[in-house]
Amino acid sequence: MLIGVPKEIKIGETRVSMTPSLCRRCVSLGAKVLIEKTAGQSAGFTDAEYRAAGATIAPTAKKVWAAADLILKVKEPLPAEYSLMRAGQTLFTYLHLAAGPELAKVLLKKRVLGISYETVEAADGSFPLLKPMSQIAGRLSIQIGAYRLQSQLGGSGVLLGGIPGTMPGHVVVIGAGNSGAHAVQMAVGMGARVTVLDLDTRKLEALDAEYRGRVVTLMSNPANIEAEVADADLLIGAVLIPAAKAPIVVSRAMVQRMRPGSVIVDIAIDQGGCVETIRPTSHEKPTYQEHGVIHYAVPNMPALVGRTSTMGLTQATEPFVTLLVQKGVERALAEHKGLAKGVNTRDGKITYDAVAKALGYS
Ligand SMILES: NC(=O)c1ccc[n+]([C@@H]2O[C@H](COP(=O)([O-])OP(=O)(O)OC[C@H]3O[C@@H](n4cnc5c(N)ncnc54)[C@H](O)[C@@H]3O)[C@@H](O)[C@H]2O)c1
Repeated sequence: MLIGVPKEIKIGETRVSMTPSLCRRCVSLGAKVLIEKTAGQSAGFTDAEYRAAGATIAPTAKKVWAAADLILKVKEPLPAEYSLMRAGQTLFTYLHLAAGPELAKVLLKKRVLGISYETVEAADGSFPLLKPMSQIAGRLSIQIGAYRLQSQLGGSGVLLGGIPGTMPGHVVVIGAGNSGAHAVQMAVGMGARVTVLDLDTRKLEALDAEYRGRVVTLMSNPANIEAEVADADLLIGAVLIPAAKAPIVVSRAMVQRMRPGSVIVDIAIDQGGCVETIRPTSHEKPTYQEHGVIHYAVPNMPALVGRTSTMGLTQATEPFVTLLVQKGVERALAEHKGLAKGVNTRDGKITYDAVAKALGYS
């Protein structure tokens, strides 16, 4: 099997889908690795390290896509990459197709076997390849929000931890999953007042037990969301309905009632976002203001910490990549139900129900 590793081209992206260590492992299992030159540079890995691990360095992305049986990426292919995909090729990466109808069309037309990181399942039904990036995005959301609250950046001038004698900032986290729980952890660490809302009582119970009353847990319903959002200095959107478009849980009217200079970080933007006023931003221009509220909605937040994110991502993908190498794609999919759940497109069809529904294919 020839594994191709293109350099990521999304704005501000710094991750790479394979470390030299994973490369060495794949080569030792009999795979060939072709990696685009400087693909690992922004995550701190040199071409020389990949060469030493057994990879061949390709001068262009075109050469990588043309030769590879399996393309291993981080982010979904962008329009500049659409023409490089080949029929019959396997693509293993984040696809987020519910928010990407154009890409879905291309994958179907080219009959690409699209295995999506975010829908690969562990035996307990969790999403092991989404988890590390969600943890990173959750942790980052608080440091980003704290920074954007600064007066000189147009923020309301609230210090999340406050000081003795002043009211700390109020952080409201909607969604208590991987990203939400890690946002809560950082917000508590910074000394903020923290409220977290979810539909899943088990998630709320776990946080309540962990923080022993230090965090307010609330059932997610329109009344609770409306009240908490109005009082939030920093609102974190962290909801997910697996593979589906994110539900809008915060309406425009709720945003209008927030204090001027408050900040929204909508982590769920890669699934369309959970705030009515949100639209995707990029690392080049990460924020915009609407109704006086600062909106941050970068779909690839983990790229801010490329080294940690690359390590976190590849330690999670390694068991699946090595399985694909050892068994071949078809046998690996036949034998590993959780990996098979990752298949979103195959033979010109959308094969994942929630994605098909979100895109109107079913
Ligand atoms: N922007 C980025 O850079 C970035 C990075 C990583 C992950 N993400 C995205 O963050 C989102 C969250 O991922 P996660 O791993 O934390 O998901 P998760 O499944 O671990 O958690 C999602 C939580 O949302 C809850 N939920 C669903 N509907 C809700 C509602 N109406 N109200 C309140 N809670 C609700 C679920 O019960 C669950 O606890 C996903 O869209 C993921 O793709 C974005």
